[in-house]
Amino acid sequence: MAVQISSMVDSRTRAEIEADVIADYRAASPRSAALHEAARRVMPGGDTRTVAFHAPYPLSIAEGCGCRIQDADGRTYIDLLNNYTSLIHGHGHPAIVAAVTAHLPHGTAFPAPNEAQTRLAEILVDRVASVDMVRFCNSGTEAVMNALRAARAFTGRDVIVKMEGGYHGTYDDVEVSVHPDPLDPLSGPDHAPRGVLGTRGVPANTVENVLVTPVNDVETVERLMRERGDDVAAIIIEPVMGAAGMLPADHAFLEALRGLTLEHGALLIFDEVMSFRLEPGGVQEHYRVRPDLTTFAKIIGGGFPVGGFGGRAAVMEQFDPLRPAPLWQSGTFNGNLITMAAGVAAMDAYTPGEVARINGLGEQLRAGLRELLADAGVRGTVTGYGSFASVHLGVDKVRSYRDAARSDKGLARLMHLSLLLEGVFAAPRLMMCTSTAMDEAVIDEALGGFRRALAGTLPAMTG
Ligand SMILES: Cc1ncc(COP(=O)(O)O)c(C=O)c1O
Repeated sequence: MAVQISSMVDSRTRAEIEADVIADYRAASPRSAALHEAARRVMPGGDTRTVAFHAPYPLSIAEGCGCRIQDADGRTYIDLLNNYTSLIHGHGHPAIVAAVTAHLPHGTAFPAPNEAQTRLAEILVDRVASVDMVRFCNSGTEAVMNALRAARAFTGRDVIVKMEGGYHGTYDDVEVSVHPDPLDPLSGPDHAPRGVLGTRGVPANTVENVLVTPVNDVETVERLMRERGDDVAAIIIEPVMGAAGMLPADHAFLEALRGLTLEHGALLIFDEVMSFRLEPGGVQEHYRVRPDLTTFAKIIGGGFPVGGFGGRAAVMEQFDPLRPAPLWQSGTFNGNLITMAAGVAAMDAYTPGEVARINGLGEQLRAGLRELLADAGVRGTVTGYGSFASVHLGVDKVRSYRDAARSDKGLARLMHLSLLLEGVFAAPRLMMCTSTAMDEAVIDEALGGFRRALAGTLPAMTG
């Protein structure tokens, strides 16, 4: 799969290549540009989702079908992002469409329980060994917020420990050290990171109750728990960190977290908002470490807004309104019929066989990406697990958030735009995932796009 380098020597500088790619992107997407300008007049940045923004402007997507999406200019892309991992079946899966359209004419949301909600709850309880009971909400952010509230109420403590670089949504308490600059002295040294507010507007004293520790560093978290363990309500971690760069935690690290939380009377929360897709019972099934609480979102709503959290009955029963001083958890659209019906259809179609199949496609993708980088002589590494893949350019090894943060973000942005020009839709940070709408030929096609994008930018990538 050697990268084809034309006989004409490409002598452009990195800045010239970047300018050429941006010019090509603008030329290919005039309608997206016009729609972006119109959107900017009524929405800051032209959208309601900061993560989806990238320069010079994001594409406006008009429709999706299976593993492909089409932009407003009529160009088609292989969707290797699947709405940030949430569309496990790609777009328009017949069973989900059938479930939703069957319900739509008869009402969408009622201030009362519905049968589909119980069915989806049963599916999660059946699949995830550590989950006795669940509740639903409308986003992963809310799921995390409720799980932390449950842990604080259960333990009577306020302090939360999270991983540096861990993304758990936009709730204030988890907007700490999400993407801190490792070079900023305020972030602290590698093995003793300090909590840094993730965005302006989060109360400054949030960092008093939210402590951070590096993933896969047992010594540091042991020290932290020795010092503060008896104040800690919960440690929260994504077993495979998504936004930090698709980084699987070491088994020994998760076991250490389990041991430390038990020792100090704290709860262990696995945020499986992204990683639930990686094994039939969530990626905790692979690690064989049993958390007290698990958060869900993304795939469990079949493409509709959703969140869920569940775990040990003793912790979850705090939400039972028949109990004295129950925990309050509500939301106008929680457990709405359409999301629940779509979620049931999506989960029913996500059989263990399909999980294994798209994990295999993920392996094909990661192996192909590694081969392409090596053949082209481009410094970089590929991380991931199962159906996840992420490319980090300009670094050789990524095991922690700080390793990933030291990658060349400018090259990632250049590769991202080049991939779009080659018909491959990935995240601007080069995060990708497979879906059940794909097969091996689609992965080969995507790798072909990556090969062309590399060839077209080679002096920048190797310079
Ligand atoms: C691990 C993790 N937790 C929580 C969230 C927040 O979920 P949502 O965007 O549905 O609020 C995300 C979103 O990407 C996530 O990846």
